[in-house]
Amino acid sequence: MSGGLRLGVLGSGKGSNLDSIAAAIAKGELRAEVRMVMSDFSEAGILEVARKWNLPFGVIPESRFKTRLEEEIEEALARTLRAAGVEFVVLAGYMRMLKAPMLNAFPRAIVNIHPSLLPAFPGMEAWRQALEAGVRVTGCSVHWVDGGMDTGAVIARREVPVADGDTPETLHARIQEAERELYPEVLESIRRARFQ
Ligand code: GRF
Repeated sequence: MSGGLRLGVLGSGKGSNLDSIAAAIAKGELRAEVRMVMSDFSEAGILEVARKWNLPFGVIPESRFKTRLEEEIEEALARTLRAAGVEFVVLAGYMRMLKAPMLNAFPRAIVNIHPSLLPAFPGMEAWRQALEAGVRVTGCSVHWVDGGMDTGAVIARREVPVADGDTPETLHARIQEAERELYPEVLESIRRARFQ
């Protein structure tokens, strides 16, 4: 596709962000093509979402570590994505840190979405951290990926109010609604910046 982003999407979870990206592409709001979806869990919902949208997908081989992949596995992942024609990598609920093989294969071409207003509340269950800290406003952020945990430069953020009586679940659901809007919009603005 000329003038469109050729995406690879990595995820470990239910895949609501992949779903919103595929929907935005189908509606013509995001000029992109998902060339490959990869998950480190064979049971992850994101693979069902890939099936629903007829997207090519694969499962990353099992790893000895929980928070990252072995170097050889990550190298193979980068090769798989490249072979599929991927030029830009979207992390959508991918639960491991990326290391040199992926960072070097896709320089300045990997983004992540995180469920807080970074730099506040990096790491796990950011919505729960926000609730426990008693903030009135939290949100989500799209940022460039570097070797740290949620540390890369922030590209865009969207605020989400914390309501009285919110539970971690209700707050997370409201943040995820904001994510569904924000991620495709940010990808389209990255595309425009690259191709125009
Ligand atoms: C999102 O809340 C995202 O912010 C975080 O992981 C979750 C992924 O959700 N990084 P989904 O798998 O896209 O539904």
